[in-house]
Amino acid sequence: MKKIKLALFASGNGSNALNIIDYFSFSSLIEIGFVLTNKKDAPIVELAQKKNVETLILSNDEVSNGTLLTKICLEKGIDFIILAGYLRKIPAELLTNYSNKIINVHPALLPKFGGQGMYGNKVHKAVFESEEFETGITIHFVNEHFDEGKVIAQFYCEVTKNDTIETIQAKVQKLEHNYFPIVIEKTILN
Ligand code: GAR
Repeated sequence: MKKIKLALFASGNGSNALNIIDYFSFSSLIEIGFVLTNKKDAPIVELAQKKNVETLILSNDEVSNGTLLTKICLEKGIDFIILAGYLRKIPAELLTNYSNKIINVHPALLPKFGGQGMYGNKVHKAVFESEEFETGITIHFVNEHFDEGKVIAQFYCEVTKNDTIETIQAKVQKLEHNYFPIVIEKTILN
């Protein structure tokens, strides 16, 4: 039987993308088609290549081109697209062709601390400065607005007086690594 094929889009350190590659490496139902990044020096390039996963490096102009991205994904038989620390806007044509098939993880409890420009440590800094008692992750479908698509799942962690931006980041990343692959799998196979 043909496996369900995922494309991973990543522009950060790639720890989530790597974790997802490892998680599905034993799956009989789901496989990784390729990793796409808009940063040629992103650590995920080397990490994915070591795992023998095809890696596509595109320019910022190319990843803004919905026709090009759609063509690549359709030609490579991609069923779902996973944003794992991917910071560029998804073009409209790709959204239309992959409606409810693009899943993102955001490092906070949306709708708090979301929107354009809110990514990575900026989010944790904002959580820290707002003296929140909790934060977490939101896994959601992607639509035309940053961080506003339908929520699939949220997971929480405590923020205490002893926390720093770095410890908040570590707690949130742990939630991402523990839950993102499982939620992807459940959502796709539901
Ligand atoms: C992750 O924490 C992810 O939630 C966040 O970027 C980080 C990437 O880490 N994404 C966003 O902020 C999107 N708005 P990674 O490169 O180690 O996976």
